[in-house]
This record gives sequence, C-alpha cells and structure tokens, in this order.
Amino acid sequence: MKELRDKVHAEVGKVVVGQTPTIDALLAAAIIGGHVLLEGVPGTAKTLLAQAVARALGLSFARAQFTPDMLPSDLTGTMTLRGGDLVFRPGPVFTQLLLADEINRTPPKTQAALLEAMSEGQVSVDRSTHLLPRPFLVVATQNPIEYEGTYPLPEAQLDRFLMKIEVGYPNADQELAMLRMARDGLAPATLSEVGAVTSADRLLEMRQVASATEVAPEVVAYLAAVVRHTRSLPSVELGASPRASVHLLGAAKAIARMSGRDFVTPDDVARMATPVLRHRILVRPEAELERYSPDDAVKAALAAVPVPR
Ligand SMILES: Nc1ncnc2c1ncn2[C@@H]1O[C@H](COP(=O)(O)OP(=O)(O)O)[C@@H](O)[C@H]1O
Ligand SMILES: [Mg+2]
Repeated sequence: MKELRDKVHAEVGKVVVGQTPTIDALLAAAIIGGHVLLEGVPGTAKTLLAQAVARALGLSFARAQFTPDMLPSDLTGTMTLRGGDLVFRPGPVFTQLLLADEINRTPPKTQAALLEAMSEGQVSVDRSTHLLPRPFLVVATQNPIEYEGTYPLPEAQLDRFLMKIEVGYPNADQELAMLRMARDGLAPATLSEVGAVTSADRLLEMRQVASATEVAPEVVAYLAAVVRHTRSLPSVELGASPRASVHLLGAAKAIARMSGRDFVTPDDVARMATPVLRHRILVRPEAELERYSPDDAVKAALAAVPVPR
C-alpha cells in the first residue's frame, strides 16, 4: 500500500500542489471504508482534489451541491413513471466517491439522508431499499467562515466522519507552483491526465489486508487511554466517543500499511489522533472564549498518556 500511496500522490500531484495530508486522508478512508469532512475556505482546491483522487483510485465520481432548498430525494433518488411503471431513478448518491459540497447549507432532513447513506451503505426510497456501490466514500465540505443561514452538523452526525481535515492556504512557493501549472483557460488542463492507479475491487481487497494489521496490546491500550483522556479534560464538555476509538484504530492501521508496515506503532496512533478526534470533541464555552480548541484537547490527551516503548 506504500507503493499505491506514492502513485496516488504522483497522479493527484499533476493537478494539485501540496495538500499531502488531505490526499492521505482520502486514501486511508477509501481503504478502510470511512468518510472525510474537509473544512476550508473557497478556492483551496477541495473540489479539484476530490475529483483527482476519484480518478486516481479508479472510482466513479459525483458532486452534490447542498443548498437550503435541497430535498432528501434530490440526493437519494425518486420514483418516476416510465411507460406506465413506477421505476426508481437513482440520485447522485449512487456513486463511489460523492463530493457533498457545503453540507452545512442544507437543512437537517437532507443532511440526515446523506448520513444514513454513509452509515448504512444503502438508501430507502418509498419503502424499498437500494444498495449503494462499494466502496462508497463521502467527501463532505464545509466553509469555516460562513455561519449565517447554515445548519451546523450535530455532534452525533459529525461522529460518523472518520476524519476532519482542515484545508488551508498554500504557502508562497506552492502558490507560485500552482500558477505555473498548465491551464485550459481557467480550468486545470491536466485533470484528464490523472490516471487510475488502482480500482474499486483492489481497494476492497486492501480493506481486508488493512483490517488484519497487527496491533500490540500496549498500543491498543495507549490508543484507548488517549481517547478516554479527552473525556476527562476540564475544558471539554463532550469527549471522543467509543466510535472514535474504533475509527482511530482503523485509521492507524491504514496509515501503518500506507507507510509500508504490517503493524501499528504508537506514532501512527498519535499522528491520526488529531484528524480522527477533533470533530467529536466539544469544548466548554468558557474555554472556547479563551481560544481553547478541540485540537488543543487532543494535544493535551496525547501529552498526558505515556507512550509505550
Ligand atoms: N493547491 C492547489 N493546486 C492546484 N490548483 C489549485 C490549488 N488551490 C487552488 N487551485 C486552483 O483553484 C481552483 C479552485 O479550486 P476548487 O477545487 O474549485 O476549490 P474549492 O472547491 O475549495 O472551492 C482550482 O480549479 C485550481 O485551478
Ligand atoms: Mg468547491
């Protein structure tokens, strides 16, 4: 899987400068079957990156723009009359990589339809169930600045995302490198050159391999202690859930394999702790006023738990 990781970075690097952690997160999620939340201001290549990763992984791609007037059926599909028969017309959710753009601009009912698809791998329309393709990877985006007229995802729904990645601005060199890239007018000229370096079937095989990654009992204990510690920090109102522990273990296994190892190290756990835990931690309002963030809470938990050696 290390070879795959290098190839994915090379392919996606044809159109996107930098963004290494985001690419790793999407690959890890595709391998273990998780979903990713990208938070970042507009114009930081979130859409482009999702499209390029879908191409590199050989997955079908669809984008759904979440708007205030979007209905659940705009996402899942509807029953329509065709030649006198009621037939199911699948919505954009029937794809392998779904870019759910600006997920916090749609009301809770439509958000819930997406989150149900994410956790069930299927959707129900008019009492019949339709299986989604496999793998099914949701990449949801959220703008950190815009709060007006938005519907923030409740904690219970955020918990279903494997990781939350903060997509920032490129540094000065990256901005220049980006400006040197070939363009067709304003659009990147090279997206069609991003080739598939794996396939849906191979990713599902890798999921089995990743699941079988060895984790020593001391490392599992370390992971559990870090997650549990987030629940007892004085500045934290709601710590990470047991689901967070499961997700952190899965992410650590994926990153171990992507680094060419068949066992998880404490460092894998520490590396994945921030992206896997940050969106599940609710900081107390008084601590928030003092600019204490969920990332600070993860840092505090990591600092408090002794690393096994
Ligand atoms: N890191 C980057 N590498 C290459 N191109 C970039 C990068 N950041 C922004 N761009 C350019 O800006 C455009 C806007 O990106 P887009 O994916 O639509 O952003 P977002 O979805 O975050 O609003 C891209 O199509 C690309 O031309
Ligand atoms: Mg976009």
